[in-house]
Amino acid sequence: MPLPIRPPFALALLHGPNLNLLGTREPTVYGRDTLADIEARLVAAAAPHTLRSLQSNHEGALIDFLHEARSWAHGVLINPGAYTHSSYALRDAISAIELPTVEVHLSNVHAREPFRHTSLLAPVCVGQVLGFGWRSYLFGLHALIATLEDRSAG
Ligand code: DQA
Repeated sequence: MPLPIRPPFALALLHGPNLNLLGTREPTVYGRDTLADIEARLVAAAAPHTLRSLQSNHEGALIDFLHEARSWAHGVLINPGAYTHSSYALRDAISAIELPTVEVHLSNVHAREPFRHTSLLAPVCVGQVLGFGWRSYLFGLHALIATLEDRSAG
């Protein structure tokens, strides 16, 4: 049974593979902020709504977290990393849990290599935010909260 959609919202925040290296990973593409820096800003921006997060380099761990989110979360914000372009399993998980999900990317994937131009997840997400560095997460968070407000039972 899905949770009734009423504020304050509980939000699941997922980061896929290699995002634990933010801060040192290709800083010209991804910036110098660490994942901890970004998460601290998101927690502040989300209040009074709450975030519970997972970064994992393992597809199954991300999928398990999504399955569990059914019991406690109202919505999902996810940067799937390279799984965006390859993971049918992650797509099926997002589809299965039926929680509104917003996909975010730090970089503008459409201005990069062709393999990054396709998202397998986008069709099962509410929408995508990309290309704004760490603020993609911030704008994605606002979009997710607005979506939940629209769907709120009041
Ligand atoms: C990314 C873009 C993906 O193509 C890449 O594999 C990442 C990060 C981004 O945030 O820009 O790991 O999701």
